[in-house]
Amino acid sequence: MAWSSFFRRATSLYHAHPVLIAIATVSTAGGGIFAYKTVYACSPDVNMPKKKVVVLGSGWAATSFLKNLKNPSYEVEVVSPRNYFAFTPLLPSVTCGTVEARSICEPIRNIAKKKHVKIEFREAECYKIDPINRKVYCRANQPADLEGKEEFTVDYDYLVVAMGARPNTFNTPGVEEHCLFLKEIEDAQRIRRAVLDCFEKASLPQLTEEQRKRILQFVVVGGGPTGVEFSAALHDFVNEDLAQLYPSLKDLINITLLEAGDHILNMFDKRITEFAEEKFKRDGINVKLGAMVIKVTEKEIHTKDRATGTMVSMPSGLVVWSTGIGTRPVITEFMKQIGQTSRRALSTDEWLRVEGAANVYALGDCATIQQRKVVEDIEAICRRADKDNKGSLSVKELQNVLKDISERYPQIEIYMKRKQFTSIVDLLKSVQGNEEKEKSTQVNIATFKKALSEVDAQMKNLPATAQVASQQGVYLADCFNRIEKCKENPEGPPRTRGEGRHRFRPFRYKHFGQFAPLGGGTTAAQLPGDLVTYGHSTQWLWYSVYASKQVSWRTRILVISDWTRRFLFGRDSSRI
Ligand SMILES: Cc1cc2nc3c(=O)[nH]c(=O)nc-3n(C[C@H](O)[C@H](O)[C@H](O)COP(=O)(O)OP(=O)(O)OC[C@H]3O[C@@H](n4cnc5c(N)ncnc54)[C@H](O)[C@@H]3O)c2cc1C
Ligand SMILES: *[C@@H]1O[C@H](CO)[C@@H](O)[C@H](O)[C@H]1NC(C)=O
Repeated sequence: MAWSSFFRRATSLYHAHPVLIAIATVSTAGGGIFAYKTVYACSPDVNMPKKKVVVLGSGWAATSFLKNLKNPSYEVEVVSPRNYFAFTPLLPSVTCGTVEARSICEPIRNIAKKKHVKIEFREAECYKIDPINRKVYCRANQPADLEGKEEFTVDYDYLVVAMGARPNTFNTPGVEEHCLFLKEIEDAQRIRRAVLDCFEKASLPQLTEEQRKRILQFVVVGGGPTGVEFSAALHDFVNEDLAQLYPSLKDLINITLLEAGDHILNMFDKRITEFAEEKFKRDGINVKLGAMVIKVTEKEIHTKDRATGTMVSMPSGLVVWSTGIGTRPVITEFMKQIGQTSRRALSTDEWLRVEGAANVYALGDCATIQQRKVVEDIEAICRRADKDNKGSLSVKELQNVLKDISERYPQIEIYMKRKQFTSIVDLLKSVQGNEEKEKSTQVNIATFKKALSEVDAQMKNLPATAQVASQQGVYLADCFNRIEKCKENPEGPPRTRGEGRHRFRPFRYKHFGQFAPLGGGTTAAQLPGDLVTYGHSTQWLWYSVYASKQVSWRTRILVISDWTRRFLFGRDSSRI
């Protein structure tokens, strides 16, 4: 019996009533779908012409790629409108002057200065990708004075797209015109000035109390980690520093955080969410849940209550918009060209290769990995599991194959861990009906398949974080460090999925936990293994982690000295 017909039948039988099915004919072993080899060691060929790698972006993903690229057989060209890397997790600190903007930036030319790999940088924006002719179209960032030569093209052999994302306004009217964002260094600097502007404006003598109150009404939209951290930072700034400098305004200040969902920090553990909401209440930060912003005007922000549908408007002096990320137009255009029309971000396989465009890789916030479902390959998996060619599967055989394939399908391990399953038996039991609790050592294929589709159903996209972006950069650099050395290998470069063996392991994300600074020297953290901590000691952990994660000793020392300065003298309130 052919495998495909076997499975068709197995499925239909499953719908009738589950039966124990013996496995019939087994032909060739091991499909490429889950098989890959670890890397070969072969020596580089010095005479080979250099391959041109073009990297778009200078953020987390691009920087970690560049830092880890060591193979001299490449020539690299980086295109980004920003000639520096910015340490985004400290951006909320920049909005209030806890840390200075320049302390968290490192020139990309410093990072790209390497002995063995030649890396060129162009300060320009890529506005079009042509995957057929392997070209990117760029426009200089400072076009003035170029006498009509602001545009140029760059050819590539390999393209690494790491352009990040842009703030998402969900097309809410007035947001673009009247809100401040918190995405780039300039945004943070703009917010810092705007906050001080509000205080100085509210201090002018000719205003009424009502007007002062409006000007000092700070509204933050979005209760995610960024919105929450910014609210907390602003609260600290206002209470620890500004209240003393503007004593007459102290009682007029109002900080409001609007969240459309049921809770703030909803991607965190419940305990952290509760702790944060409690703390904000005590601090007097006004949190409004279930409030959807529908319109922003110069002096007002209009919201609709999600449950009751009632419209409310409140005065605002400054609105910071932080509701998540959207796709950049150049990426949307590129996705159209390669037929990825229904997606939110550039879709790649687990090797970070863009689907539908040869030799193009994408990582960071502009991409999502389309994790392959286990069920799609179940035939091959069973074929491979059946080691003794008996045509049936034993629990032991299945256990072995599961170990083998969980590298290719990380969702298995994640699922088993979450459910605290220790073996395949637990997994199978979880979907078995009572009447067929296994007596024999043979496995019911239908049950197996059902268990795996449970596993697939729980798959989640990776979050858009610096942690993911930088791990992807390291991974891709590692692939590039090895790919060209092995030119002569009969297996060639990694192939499209299903087509044969892969030379590299697929990308695998390791989560190291996440912080949520809540102000007043208190931070909450969710660490691996379901560990939740909060308080002052976690704040110290936060300090040490963020100091150690700096890209250079220079920025590390700058950041630490900024923190020290803040402890000694408070934050600087000069409106520069
Ligand atoms: C305020 C804030 C706080 C955050 N805090 C955390 C945190 O605590 N922990 C965490 O893990 N993550 C955090 N993040 C998320 C993290 O910053 C992002 O996930 C990360 O930056 C994604 O990396 P990236 O390389 O994909 O994009 P980015 O770092 O955004 O880099 C994109 C790069 O592409 C360049 N670019 C843009 N357009 C073009 C173009 N047309 N052509 C060429 N280049 C272009 C940009 O200039 C930039 O250099 C935070 C984000 C923000 C905004
Ligand atoms: C702050 O402003 C909001 C919205 O106008 C209001 O509901 C809240 O009561 C105010 N809080 C304080 C402490 O004044």
